[in-house]
Amino acid sequence: MTVARIAWLRDDPGQALPPFTARLPVMDREEMARLRLPSRQRSFVLSRLLLRHLLTTYAGIPPEAQCFTRAASGRLLLAGSGPWEISLSHGGGLVAVMVASAPCGVDIERQRATRITRVAERYFAPAEAEWLRTRDNATAERDFFRLWTLKEACVKALGQGLADNMARLAFTLATSPPTLLAPDHGLQVWQAPLAEAWLAAAVRSAGPVDWACTELSLAAL
Ligand SMILES: CC(C)(COP(=O)(O)OP(=O)(O)OC[C@H]1O[C@@H](n2cnc3c(N)ncnc32)[C@H](O)[C@@H]1OP(=O)(O)O)[C@@H](O)C(=O)NCCC(=O)NCCS
Repeated sequence: MTVARIAWLRDDPGQALPPFTARLPVMDREEMARLRLPSRQRSFVLSRLLLRHLLTTYAGIPPEAQCFTRAASGRLLLAGSGPWEISLSHGGGLVAVMVASAPCGVDIERQRATRITRVAERYFAPAEAEWLRTRDNATAERDFFRLWTLKEACVKALGQGLADNMARLAFTLATSPPTLLAPDHGLQVWQAPLAEAWLAAAVRSAGPVDWACTELSLAAL
């Protein structure tokens, strides 16, 4: 059985960042310092705290053994800690992390006004763009972000880039959970609606997957 554990949180902008930053190891603080935008620094810090929390509480990896490296593709890797694979997503005041016993990907996106039709026709699979055209405005916006998060989660699980895979990873939302129509990379997906946001996850696994997701608060970290 493949296990997949996801945790997410909403940022509380009223909480000062330094106390959180101080709890991160030097390697994370150095990486944070290289980021220019304060908003980017903030979501970076929260993503690392949440990821480290999940690795400690779920995977049982002590903080001192949690060492990250980065693949050339940009994917974050957990160095030498047995079967565990990691993924994370942060932005728009939302953070999601994932730990799984197979290659995995997670994406969280705030639902927002977007040129849905234009983006979908340019980047999505033709059948997806057609599906969105049949929906009323509110439903189309929701379905657009459902598709977007599913695609990003799959891209991350594959360790590839979004640009090449946006149209290739074609989904139907007519099933629950959504079905990846093509190509079949052995990916399995999971998705949850949040208030005005979407959370999606993917793992590369041929067998059954034990999914679990929890919302945490900054205070819990
Ligand atoms: C991966 C990607 C979809 C992330 O999208 P995003 O909406 O900007 O950002 P998210 O917050 O959802 O995710 C960012 C996290 O994904 C992870 N990530 C970045 N690139 C990744 C990749 N190729 N595969 C898996 N995970 C990746 C990182 O951990 C990153 O967070 P960090 O920089 O704080 O460590 C996008 O950056 C992308 O397409 N990158 C690939 C670029 C590319 O084509 N590279 C060459 C291909 S091999």
